[in-house]
Amino acid sequence: MSASRGEFSSRFGFIMAAAGSAVGLGNIWGFPTQTASNGGAAFVLAYLVLAFCLAYPALMAELVVGRYGQANAVASLKKVSNHRWQHPLAFIVGFGGIICAGLILSFYAIVAGWMISFTAEPVAQLAGQNEAANWLTSQSLSRNLLFAGGFILLTVMIISKGVENGIEKWSKRLMPALLAILFALIAYVMSQDGATQGLKNYLLPDFSALFEPALLVSALGQAFFSLSLGTSVMIIYGSYISKSENLVTLGASVTLIDVFIAFVAGLLIIPAMYVAQAQGVEIFDASGKLLSEDTLVFQVLPALFDSMGSAGLYVGFAFFALMSIAALTSSISMLEAPVSYTVEKFGLNRRPATWVIGVLICLVSFTIIFNFEQLFGFVIALTTRFGQPLLGLMCCVFVGWIWHRASLLKEIQSGCPEAANSWFWKIWPWYIKFVCPICISLVFINSLR
Ligand code: PFF
Repeated sequence: MSASRGEFSSRFGFIMAAAGSAVGLGNIWGFPTQTASNGGAAFVLAYLVLAFCLAYPALMAELVVGRYGQANAVASLKKVSNHRWQHPLAFIVGFGGIICAGLILSFYAIVAGWMISFTAEPVAQLAGQNEAANWLTSQSLSRNLLFAGGFILLTVMIISKGVENGIEKWSKRLMPALLAILFALIAYVMSQDGATQGLKNYLLPDFSALFEPALLVSALGQAFFSLSLGTSVMIIYGSYISKSENLVTLGASVTLIDVFIAFVAGLLIIPAMYVAQAQGVEIFDASGKLLSEDTLVFQVLPALFDSMGSAGLYVGFAFFALMSIAALTSSISMLEAPVSYTVEKFGLNRRPATWVIGVLICLVSFTIIFNFEQLFGFVIALTTRFGQPLLGLMCCVFVGWIWHRASLLKEIQSGCPEAANSWFWKIWPWYIKFVCPICISLVFINSLR
């Protein structure tokens, strides 16, 4: 059965695909702006601790459910249920995650569309097409519709090719490209005036800020979004992992890469803010607070690129290409969640199923574009503030409270016999049963205030 539904062909392939899902706009844009708004290095420290101590165990819960079930999220959660009466709950959690992934894709595609149009803008300028360049950076309806639709089309084309030839192949190409661009940009920004000041702010923590509830809430929310939790995505990616692979180290590698890229993106963005400030672009108010998170990527950084003369065109191009690639490797995972469900539940072929779901998501995305003021922020809040934490929490409940411990242990040990005696196995079930649900609930309740 597993051969017909697809499987990652190699450990590297899985790591690139799952890290590709995790590494996205959340890392390169979200993490550095949150760091700048939440007191610099103290936020970085809180994020590192929470990502490893809470988000990683929760990621393991999703991966292990998927690998055990070898099926879409709903079917996998049903398999770990002990009694039939738990099936409706499995449906709500699995299907809820799938809807959440689809909704995230519908707003993510809009932002990714902006990234692609900002990548095209320097090209238009170099070609002397100034009118086209202005249109590309305008907030016009036509630009938004065209680029969001184009981005979804690209995602559909990759996903319709399946696990190995679509997700894995493209993640293996795009992730190294992303790293190369990221490091080249860091080298450039570090050579500019003002960068060291940014580096100091980023790396030297103000410990007094560390235990502020707002900071902890933002850091855990960021870690959840960043590891793509509570969306059924990691359940479905887990289902494509072979039984002979060591899940514990695979999950740890994905978490490490995700945290590493967020951290490295901070080395680019925070110093870049200070470089921009040194060049007269307004970034912080008198008290040192970031003026606006929203305008950072689309106004502040382009202003910085403009001030660099013709080099700025190339730097701007590289920066927005980096953002577009990061967005694409995440969006393919979001589309895979509903597609795998549709294929398995209704027996459809992958290609038509992908197109049908792609068109539906495009329609939702266009609806958001037409009603931007009312819907954009609403869908983001609905999915990232409510959907992801609640569904992530429910997944922990399934693994910690519902699934038979012996069967869970057997699944973890498949491909990792040493897990039975490791510290991981001693701590993790306890974490998933108590610590993760309690902490996620606390964060959730706090975010409602
Ligand atoms: N992890 C992605 C990011 O950091 O941008 C966002 C994401 C991907 C969220 C996939 C949810 C998801 F299912």
